[in-house]
Amino acid sequence: MVGVEHALVTGVAGFIGSHLATELLKRGWLVTGVDGRSPASDPVAAENLAGLMGDGSFQFVETNIADADMTILLEGVQVVFHLAALPGVRRSWGDRFADYLTCNVLGTQRLLEACGVVEVPRLVFASSSSVYGQTDSQPSRESDLASPSSPYGVSKLAAERLCIAYATRPGAVTSVIALRYFTVYGPRQRPDMAISRVMRAAMSGHTVSLYGRGTQRRDFTYVSDAISATIAAANAGVQAEVINVGSGQSTSLAEVMDAVAELSGASVPALRRVAQPGDVDATAADLSKAHALLGYEPQVALGEGLRRQWNWLASREHKTHPVAVEAAR
Ligand code: NAD
Ligand code: UGA
Repeated sequence: MVGVEHALVTGVAGFIGSHLATELLKRGWLVTGVDGRSPASDPVAAENLAGLMGDGSFQFVETNIADADMTILLEGVQVVFHLAALPGVRRSWGDRFADYLTCNVLGTQRLLEACGVVEVPRLVFASSSSVYGQTDSQPSRESDLASPSSPYGVSKLAAERLCIAYATRPGAVTSVIALRYFTVYGPRQRPDMAISRVMRAAMSGHTVSLYGRGTQRRDFTYVSDAISATIAAANAGVQAEVINVGSGQSTSLAEVMDAVAELSGASVPALRRVAQPGDVDATAADLSKAHALLGYEPQVALGEGLRRQWNWLASREHKTHPVAVEAAR
């Protein structure tokens, strides 16, 4: 993009945010990365940020976006990539919802206010397939009714609608693209997510909990595809849009477990548990809009993506627990 060189990435110590910052730096951007987790005290954050710290074009700022004055950090920034959020679907019930409201909704609203003050031209928001809720057998289109099944999905829809409201008010200077990511996986995937847990179980021999019958289907999206769409959203010529980002293929959890068993050479030890509230039966992305507005074409098929995540995990585990990994092979 002509002229754009400074991005602010919120949630940079997370799974997707750390991949995004890495790719932006590779493409010559200056990156200010913000996160509430500190690499000094949080081992996951430290691991995610390891490749970024020390890069002269990268600055890390530990701060909570829900209560910090973000305007200082936004000076000179052309694009905000807003990924900071509490991301778990199944944890969002009960008392924890207060934190989801603070981080996902209030944090987004405060960031939008700050972008308006500093006149940041573009904000790209990490929305979620969870805004759709239970769907019929057709791939979800952005124009479909959004009817989330979890408090998390409600918080992401609220944040998404805030983004659109701010970008469409009279005189708005910050244009917005909200990307509805569909279950993203790959190296450094969050440890609470299914593929990550299934692979760890296969490597360690410990049992993974399987919620429901394994028939639930997800449009699993490889992380580099999600990142390509996200960077393309920095300069797409629109004012306020919501766009799906998926793989276009829907796969059951049982099929993923079979694929991981093939990679590991043994079946994955699993214990059936009841289906979890908030989980939907299936997600599937209609990608026509992503193709038309972002030129998006997913590149990494599930088999290849799983192999890459497996190899990453194996090399990582080998460094920390070489004996246990050898035994699991
Ligand atoms: P992650 O938990 O790895 O990263 C999120 C980061 O945001 C964390 O490092 C966390 O510390 C930070 N954060 C949370 N609240 C904050 C606050 N108030 N101030 C500063 N930092 C804060 O999650 P992820 O899987 O990388 O997801 C990134 C984004 O993408 C989230 O917005 C999530 O809702 C969205 N998303 C993820 C997926 C997926 O499959 N991983 C799918 C759809 C949408
Ligand atoms: C994922 C992310 O975790 C959310 O942050 C994101 O917003 C959402 O995708 C999205 O697409 O919007 P989810 O689809 O629930 O949420 O992905 P996983 O956490 O990987 O779970 C996939 C399926 O596996 C679910 O049905 C879940 O119940 C199941 N699962 C998960 C298990 O059976 N066992 C586990 O240990 C973990």
